[in-house]
Amino acid sequence: MNFHVLTLFPEMVEQGLNTSIIGRAMKDKHISLHTVNIRDFSDNKHNRVDDYPYGGGAGMVIQPEPVYRAYASVAETSLSRAAGKKPRCIYLTPQGKVFNQTMVEEFAQEEELIFLCGHYEGIDERVLQEIVTDYVSIGDYVLTGGELASMVMIDAISRFVPGVLSNEESAQFESMQDNLLEYPHYTRPEEWHGQKVPSVLLTGDHNKIESWRWERSLERTRERRPDLMEKNRKLTVAYFSPTGGTRRAAEMLAGLLSQNPQYLDLTRRKFRKQTRRFTDKDLLLAAAPVYGGQLPQLKEALFTNFRGNHTPCILMAAYGNRHYEDTLAQMQDILEARGFYCIGAIAPVIPHIYSEKLGAGRPDAEDQKLFRRFAVTIKKRLEENFQEHLELPGNPKPEPKVLKPVQQFFDPDKCTGCQSCVQKCPAAAIDKDSHRILENLCVHCLRCEQACPTGARTSDTTAVRERLESSSRRVVEAY
Ligand code: ADE
Repeated sequence: MNFHVLTLFPEMVEQGLNTSIIGRAMKDKHISLHTVNIRDFSDNKHNRVDDYPYGGGAGMVIQPEPVYRAYASVAETSLSRAAGKKPRCIYLTPQGKVFNQTMVEEFAQEEELIFLCGHYEGIDERVLQEIVTDYVSIGDYVLTGGELASMVMIDAISRFVPGVLSNEESAQFESMQDNLLEYPHYTRPEEWHGQKVPSVLLTGDHNKIESWRWERSLERTRERRPDLMEKNRKLTVAYFSPTGGTRRAAEMLAGLLSQNPQYLDLTRRKFRKQTRRFTDKDLLLAAAPVYGGQLPQLKEALFTNFRGNHTPCILMAAYGNRHYEDTLAQMQDILEARGFYCIGAIAPVIPHIYSEKLGAGRPDAEDQKLFRRFAVTIKKRLEENFQEHLELPGNPKPEPKVLKPVQQFFDPDKCTGCQSCVQKCPAAAIDKDSHRILENLCVHCLRCEQACPTGARTSDTTAVRERLESSSRRVVEAY
């Protein structure tokens, strides 16, 4: 990440950021800081850049031309300009949008940022209109200039730049991610000024410690920042994932949205049968794989046991290569008819069950970046109370397809009768006595093959694999 700061006091910014973690990040070249002295672009022989305000009144105003030239000196060689985009230029002002953690994460997606620091009564409005893309305040009070504010922003944003924090310092699992404050911390000695460290922390029981910390986070937020508590939502991740690809993609996204997601495995039939209620304080991530361009056709159809109450939801249709559009539209249709409203949809690429080549290793590091962007979009939509109908391109009610994409084989001589395939089949499509596959129920997910410990179940995917591999889409799309 490259930070450029346009200022009248460059040494203040340089000295302020040169130490500790941010100083180390600069040395290690994870971030760079380039200050530009606006005064160097004055054409006045005394290097003045301010003048009296038109219309009278107190204070001085910074003139547009030196600011514009300082900006141009950076913008002309900027990465964004090279990519045909206007560089992101942030003007620090108490009149801006108040900085928060979602904004931190959003700005951290950029490769470079230009900060413009004002002083005196401000900067001539005309140049602001021409160059500024974001007006940001760091709080509802007035500072003498924008320098400290730019430093605050650079510090907070840098924490999200890969490599800046070591693992222990990692920003991933910290306070604010769920709009929650962090739990209290303790170190040696075990007793200090008559106060003991909470005994649970000495038990070594990781699960107990985690839940104690979670409780303390909630308690603290309730007491100290009830306003944040209002914004806190419980994330439930409901997924259908016979061979694990969809689950992995859903977990990856969930980890970017919450520290404490609850998982609901719809691959297990009992969780598709029980009615599950959600409130308007919940957030649902509904994840399903794309089978033949549609939602898997199950007897207990996916998500039909859910009841929302004006509950926001995110849709995920994970695909190996087919069209995912109808699957997303089907999910939206099912959930919106049951009290949910969709605030975003994503179609990540996952490994294809019929081909080792298609989607191998996905989602990968590049996908993770897109997930990050999508997670920020979701957080912004939640903050802005997004209520519009999410327009998705697919058909919500496609003609059900009769699929028999692969040949499946069963070798009774190898079967020990362990029933693993019968129990693990998400569609109840294996007869428990004969072990025959019931074709009308089977969704061809090959979970039975994965579940069989003796190799009694196999399949031939050659024909379909060749067809799939010759034409496939492998991009992550988000709405
Ligand atoms: N400049 C002066 N006050 C400011 C504030 N609160 N935030 C950002 N920039 C400022």
